[in-house]
Amino acid sequence: MTFADNWRSVDNPTGPGPGAYVDSPLARVLRQPLMLGLFLPIQDGGWTPSTLPRTTTWTFDYNAALTQRAEALGLDLVFGLAQWASKGGYGGTTRYREISIDSFMTVAALAAMTSRILLISTLHVLYGPWHPVHLAKFGATLDHISGGRWGANIVTGYAAREPAMFGMTKIAHDQRYEMADVFTSRLEQLWTGTENLTVDGPFWAMEDAFITPKPRYGRPVLVNATGSRAGIAYAVRHSDIVFITSPAGNQLADAVESLPAHIAGIHAAAASVGRRVRTIINPMIVCRPTEAEAIRYRDAIVAAADEDAVEGFAAHGRAGDAEAWRNQKRLHRPLGGNLHLVGSPEQIVEGFLRLKAAGCDGVQLTFYDFAPDLEYFGASVLPLMHQAGLRLGHGAA
Ligand SMILES: Cc1cc2nc3c(=O)[nH]c(=O)nc-3n(C[C@H](O)[C@H](O)[C@H](O)COP(=O)(O)O)c2cc1C
Repeated sequence: MTFADNWRSVDNPTGPGPGAYVDSPLARVLRQPLMLGLFLPIQDGGWTPSTLPRTTTWTFDYNAALTQRAEALGLDLVFGLAQWASKGGYGGTTRYREISIDSFMTVAALAAMTSRILLISTLHVLYGPWHPVHLAKFGATLDHISGGRWGANIVTGYAAREPAMFGMTKIAHDQRYEMADVFTSRLEQLWTGTENLTVDGPFWAMEDAFITPKPRYGRPVLVNATGSRAGIAYAVRHSDIVFITSPAGNQLADAVESLPAHIAGIHAAAASVGRRVRTIINPMIVCRPTEAEAIRYRDAIVAAADEDAVEGFAAHGRAGDAEAWRNQKRLHRPLGGNLHLVGSPEQIVEGFLRLKAAGCDGVQLTFYDFAPDLEYFGASVLPLMHQAGLRLGHGAA
């Protein structure tokens, strides 16, 4: 029996989530026709192993300024990856992603520097000695610091080599989701429960565990990134937002062909457990006043690719077992991310409209040169998104 058949192993108290509270930050974001998020380049090199000069750096100050700018522009959320690279990162002259600041810590600091934007941090809950009581307490604390704006992107660790860094042997794909299901169910019990919690497993035991303060809107925002059957079975039970990838590679035409069936499958799985989830996809945006200029910018990024790093990162992906990143065509691969939108502001908005028509509820933006590219996006693309009915008000609805 697979995990997907057997997922009811643990009592699951998941309700509709903080989106059901009409005044919660998540509910405000979900009212947008197209959610708008920003990746934070807290890993050196962001998504793109290229040496074309740029301002992007992994430093906290750079990411804090980006987050504050994203908030001022009315974006809905920022999101930080978590990866555990060894010395040299994923290789090349750039030592791609060798340096990174932690997603959880970064977002915690950002909570006190922002007031409206959602802050999502990625957490490998199966690495090391994480216990649900730890994260329930830390999450409740961040929920209060941020006023209900903090969320966890729960990942199980697809990488081949990362578990060894924690002295662990890699756990099989579907079993990881079974464990994450238990972990997250315990979080939900601790966040919502009004009595002490005593359980003798599976995986994590606790006696008289109790967490206050309670999160303001039932529980913090829960997010997951997946494309596999077991991952989707987990995500629809627990997540408010599911990060999806294009099942057919990084070109828009292929993505919009393949996404409707993929997203319909996620919604059907959610409906089967009485829930609704939203989907968000992460395009790499290369935008200039004209298509020709955008293509020139893309080609310059790709021409300056740190080829050893590109291959090193691809090899890292191949050695892992994430289904979400299969079928990635190699076209312009150094650009990174799983979907490329290259063109004029009008063409970017057209791409967003097609992604929305394909069923995406949001886009999580990635850029090459984050600060100036976000600035250009804010000046040139955002107004067109409003005109096209993809965004309401200034920022949240
Ligand atoms: C937008 C996005 C962000 C992701 N961020 C992380 C991350 O920060 N750390 C990580 O280990 N995996 C990350 N992943 C990878 C997922 O954890 C990976 O796709 C996961 O193993 C899902 O695998 P599955 O499709 O086999 O369920 C991300 C995936 C996507 C689509």
